[in-house]
Parts: sequence; structure tokens; C-alpha cells
Amino acid sequence: MVTNRNVCVLGLGYVGLPLACAAAGAGHRVVGLDPDRARVDALRSARSPVEDVEDRDLEKALASGLLSFTDDPGDIGGSDTFVICVPTPLKEKTPDLTMVDAAVDIVGGALRPGGMVILESTTYPGTTEDRVRPRLAEATGLRAPDDYHLVFSPERIDPGNPDYSLKNTPRVIGGLGTAAGDAAAEFYSSFIDHVHRVSGPREAEMAKLLENTYRHVNIALVNEMAIFCEELGIDLWESIGAASTKPFGFAPFTPGPGVGGHCIPVDPSYLSWRVRRLGYPFRFVELAAEINDRMPNYVAARVADLLNDVHKSVGGSQILVLGLAYKRDLGDMRESPAPILIRRLESRGALVRWHDPHVGILEIEDSNAVAVQGELTAEELAAADLVVVHTDHSAYDPEMIVRHGRRVFDTRNLTAGHHAPHVFRL
Ligand SMILES: NC(=O)c1ccc[n+]([C@@H]2O[C@H](COP(=O)([O-])OP(=O)(O)OC[C@H]3O[C@@H](n4cnc5c(N)ncnc54)[C@H](O)[C@@H]3O)[C@@H](O)[C@H]2O)c1
Repeated sequence: MVTNRNVCVLGLGYVGLPLACAAAGAGHRVVGLDPDRARVDALRSARSPVEDVEDRDLEKALASGLLSFTDDPGDIGGSDTFVICVPTPLKEKTPDLTMVDAAVDIVGGALRPGGMVILESTTYPGTTEDRVRPRLAEATGLRAPDDYHLVFSPERIDPGNPDYSLKNTPRVIGGLGTAAGDAAAEFYSSFIDHVHRVSGPREAEMAKLLENTYRHVNIALVNEMAIFCEELGIDLWESIGAASTKPFGFAPFTPGPGVGGHCIPVDPSYLSWRVRRLGYPFRFVELAAEINDRMPNYVAARVADLLNDVHKSVGGSQILVLGLAYKRDLGDMRESPAPILIRRLESRGALVRWHDPHVGILEIEDSNAVAVQGELTAEELAAADLVVVHTDHSAYDPEMIVRHGRRVFDTRNLTAGHHAPHVFRL
């Protein structure tokens, strides 16, 4: 029989909110803590800021009485299980763990003997044991593994993925000691189908970084191939499709205008930062970052060439950028390459307009680009000298883009199958 826990989830974003809802759905009493007052107010009114959590699910969880939200650390005193899901950004290419530290300090004020502390935020190997453990010991006098359970369990959620959710994505668990692993496995098994135990927090931390470094490096591989395939006159998308028919030994990755989101551009740098402290570089990661970071400039250069081919200069040309988000069907702008691309085009004198049905902002920092509001129209497409498909949102109709765009540069293969002399792909 599963023990119902009193859970505190710290950080109610893409990772913490689905977790809080799922744990409450499994019968645990959950309090979600976030310092963002506006976010807490919205959540209390059953308005979800995260695409993967529907308002109606939030409403149901709130109505059950098992889920509540607060911005006051004084409200988490009755918790026995703390799950930390706060951001782990980079500051000047160095891991910035200030939010993890702040969350650990909050936990330190509430942790009692026999409790459990789980870190889910992505971080470099060693964080749980070498940073969280001593900080909690200092704050509470409690020592893991004897006095409480300390665990690292990476979140692998893929926002917007219709096939894999929190429930059916296997969960990696690395407890400090067997009892911590047992307790965490029991907790997660109450709302996740499969758990996979590893021997300790470091192996779990490394598993997450291996996954994201693998993506980062392979995306860089196809991005570099896209650059030379253009010069070789090869349709790389077709080659990727062909290679993907191999039922073993190949996993497809696709090129794009750059990498974005909280994970892929950030997490591998956590690992390379850690490796550099050993006295040598992690060359794969550094090379991949160099290639991926170059992509927005490469796209801007291709745009210039495509205009040049019809005797136009970038300066003074109207360019419409479709999609700002880093990923299809999400409104998440974190680390999106779109603003870099837009600023690059503007620095060459382009008059940029952009459209994104998912992104709520109206202005891009350091840019005069104009937001096109409402539905994308044929007139808007036809008014541009060139249309750049930056994000392949499913709301975009490729046929309409091909029919009305005067010249189209598609960085995502949205227009696959719509061959036309005025349509070009990355
Ligand atoms: N977004 C993803 O797809 C994803 C996937 C897997 C792992 N991760 C990792 O999970 C972690 C969280 O990412 P996210 O996307 O959920 O971030 P997010 O920005 O969506 O949400 C984080 C929340 O934490 C809150 N917060 C900040 N400091 C806090 C504190 N001291 N106490 C409590 N709450 C605090 C913020 O106000 C914010 O609402 C990161 O380490 C990230 O790398 C993210």
C-alpha cells in the first residue's frame, strides 16, 4: 500500500505544476510554492500557465481539496516530502544555482527527521550530494542518509508532446542510500508507470545530462550538414527521411534555425562547466554549442542570398517571420533563436514583421519588429518580400504559405511535399 504523503512542490513551472497535479491526483496532499505571486493567484483561480496542464484538470485537483498553492514559505510546515523544480539557468556561461539554493533554504526551514527531499532541477553531477546535502545539514542539523531521504530524480517532460506525459515517461531515481531510493520509488510509482533506479544521485544527474547532450550534439551534427548540403545541392531532409527507414542504429534529428528552450542550449553547458573544472574541455559540447549558436546568423545570411537572387537587398525588404517560440505549438520563448535572427535581419536594414499564435508578447527586446496579431492572412503573406518559417506551429497551413508567400525560406520543413520554385528549405 502506498503511503499518502504531504508534498511540497517548490517551483510551479513546466516541471513543477504537472508534478503537483499528478501527485494530488494520486491521493497525496500537495502544496505548491512559488514566489511569483501573479502565478500563484492564477493557479488558485484554476488558470494554468503551462500548456501541458489544462485549466479543467487544475480545477478538478483544486476541488478535491488535495492541491493548494502559496507564495508563503510559512505554509509548507506540515510537509514531509519536498520536490524542488526551480530553474537552473546559466549566468555568463556558468551554472547559476541561486534558485536551487534559495529553495533548499526554504526546505531547510521545514524539513523534519524522516522527511524526503528530491531535487528535480537539471544540474551538474554532484549537486545533490555536494551542494544540497551540506546546505541542509547546516540549516537543520539533519544528515542524509541517516536522518532524512535525499534523492535526485530528473524530470524528462517534453512540453507539448502529445504521446509522452509525466505518467508514461519512465522516471529515473537516484537516492542517497537504498532507503531513499525505495521511498522515492514508492512515491513516484503512485503516479508514474515505470521507475528506473540507479545507484545514487550522481548517476541520475548524469543520465539527464547525457540525454540532453546527446540531443544537443546530434542537432549540431545535422545543422552542420544542412549548411554544406545546401552548397552540395542535396536535400538533407530527404536524406534524413531515407536514413530513418533503418530500423536500428539510427535516430533522426532535424536541422533548424538554432536551439532553444530551457534544456538543450543550457544543460550541456552545466556538464562542460563541470568537466572544465577537471582541467580539460568537453569538446563535443563546446563544438555543438558553437555550431548551434551560429544557426540564426546562417539563416539571416541565407535570407540575404535569397533576396539577392531576385535583385533585392535585405535593407528595405519586408520580411515576415512565422513563429517565435523555440518549439512547435508552444508559447515558450526561453532561449528561442528567433529574436537573434530578427535582430540580425534588422541590423541589415530589413523591416521585420512576425506572427506567432502561441506567444503572448508584443515586443522583442532591442528590435523594432512589428507583431502581426490575429490569424495569419493571405494578404500578410503576400505583402512580404520573403517569409521565414522559424517555428512549424501546426496552426500554419503550408499550402497557404506556399500559395501566397512571394518567396519562402522554410527552416523546419513545414512545407515538405509542396515543391515550388519560390520555396527554399534549410
Ligand atoms: N521545461 C522543460 O521542458 C524541462 C524539462 C526537464 C527538466 N527541466 C528542468 O526543470 C527545472 C525547472 O524548469 P521549468 O521549465 O519548470 O522552469 P519554469 O521557469 O517554467 O518554472 C520554475 C518556477 O520556479 C519558480 N521559482 C523560482 N525560485 C523559486 C524558489 N526559490 N522557490 C520556489 N519556486 C521558485 C519560478 O517563479 C517559476 O515559476 C530546470 O532545472 C529545468 O532545466 C525543464
